Amino acid sequence: MKHTKVKDLLNSAKPVDDVLVKGWVRTFRNNQFIALNDGSTINNIQCVVDFENTPAETLKRITTGAAVAVKGNLAESQGAGQKYEIQAKSVEILGDSDPEKFPMQPKKHSLEFLRENAHLRVRTNVFGAIMRVRSVLSFAIHQYFQEKGFVYVNTPIITGSDAEGAGEMFQVTSLPVGNPPLNEEGKVDYKQDFFGKETNLTVSGQLEGETFAMALGQIYTFGPTFRAENSNTSRHLAEFWMVEPEVAFNNLDDNMDLAEDFIQYVIKYAMDRCQDDLKFLDQRLADEEKQKPTAERSEMGLLEKLQFVLENNFKRVSYTEAIDILKNCKPNKNKKFNYIIEEWGADLQSEHERYLVEKHFKSPVILFDYPANIKAFYMRLNDDKKTVRAMDILFPGIGEIVGGSEREERLDVLLEKIAELGIDEKELWWYLDTRRFGTATHAGFGLGFERLVLFVTGMGNIRDVIPFPRTPQNAEF
Ligand code: 4AD
Ligand code: MG
Repeated sequence: MKHTKVKDLLNSAKPVDDVLVKGWVRTFRNNQFIALNDGSTINNIQCVVDFENTPAETLKRITTGAAVAVKGNLAESQGAGQKYEIQAKSVEILGDSDPEKFPMQPKKHSLEFLRENAHLRVRTNVFGAIMRVRSVLSFAIHQYFQEKGFVYVNTPIITGSDAEGAGEMFQVTSLPVGNPPLNEEGKVDYKQDFFGKETNLTVSGQLEGETFAMALGQIYTFGPTFRAENSNTSRHLAEFWMVEPEVAFNNLDDNMDLAEDFIQYVIKYAMDRCQDDLKFLDQRLADEEKQKPTAERSEMGLLEKLQFVLENNFKRVSYTEAIDILKNCKPNKNKKFNYIIEEWGADLQSEHERYLVEKHFKSPVILFDYPANIKAFYMRLNDDKKTVRAMDILFPGIGEIVGGSEREERLDVLLEKIAELGIDEKELWWYLDTRRFGTATHAGFGLGFERLVLFVTGMGNIRDVIPFPRTPQNAEF
């Protein structure tokens, strides 16, 4: 006999005799009521055990965390809350769970404790909901780009390029650990490496993506990226997923239009398909907000925030305008920012980004035309020779969710820039070929997938929206 998913049973049009469900016990009350969850939905199905006809030995083994198979009739529920329950005819224990030892007790655990048990936290309501929403968002990303005819490109994970030029790479080597061959200078001899040169885990697939956009027109990547930045924040991971579309013949305005439309599409997609999970996460956030002093509480609930993003255009503001706002705002003048903005050219810290989004504009913001010297080498220089066609999208509660730009398509300008930065032209010969042969205007951006999942789930820490967080503290999985 095949088993049925709890979600399908709860959505059944009518009662059904003789069903089989398999899942894990969340709670067992009064020796009679099992709350069973099988991961198909946040909702448990109540299984009413016929305790008089069930062996005492079996009843004892129905404990939180145990895997069980329940056979019975799907019947209209007497109690409030749910439409159906299962009137069990038999309960089979598939796998025991020692109630004294099972770490996921039926009570509220701290997120820190759950992070240390990332292999079991997915058995809680919160993490089940987050991981289902994450999965739907991944699918929405593919759906969006595939519907528009973008080609999905898998860019290398092990690469010789440092796309961002920020030097935040994890080195990869096939040389023997602990005892690598050394050259005459006493340094690791990468010539003897399988790769024959220094290689690292990718920080971004953009440069390879550009070469594909210059043939296929519109492409996107969606894969893992790695950054060895030791930033111990609630917004950074060492291993995260990035979505990077790249489009030939698009300029910066087209790039902003694409990013905004894309983000709104995937959020709507999740709102339409994850109603139960999002309702639960909305309530979780509301409960958490109640713990805060009134002045610090968010004005909007999770679902309201998501709806707001769908219904309102993102504010488009140049870096120069933003600096004027920041220089003259109260927290800057009263020295309440940790970092005081004194002049044009300063890089924005997250406190400034949050001020702009949460206090000043109260809306997602697209900042564009940043000073050239605080951005990567590949961004197109504006006619003022000071700014580049960069854009960052800033979200309330998140900060930067997207970074992108129109690319420098002029070979001479690009060569000048890389010489200025001391980058070896020979390292980038293949990238420069796109500018040598049939160069054209093109633009793209990178969306940090976990930052999107953070926003959609209303969670506060990026470690809670990736299955196994890899941060400086957390590497055992
Ligand atoms: O702004 P970034 O560094 O841009 C790039 O890598 C470009 N090559 C993208 C492009 O134009 N194709 O990173 C893009 C986004 C950020 O806006 C942020 O959302 C996310 O990636 N991100 C991180 N997310 C989690 N942990 C980290 N350490 C992250 N670093 C960047
Ligand atoms: Mg960035």
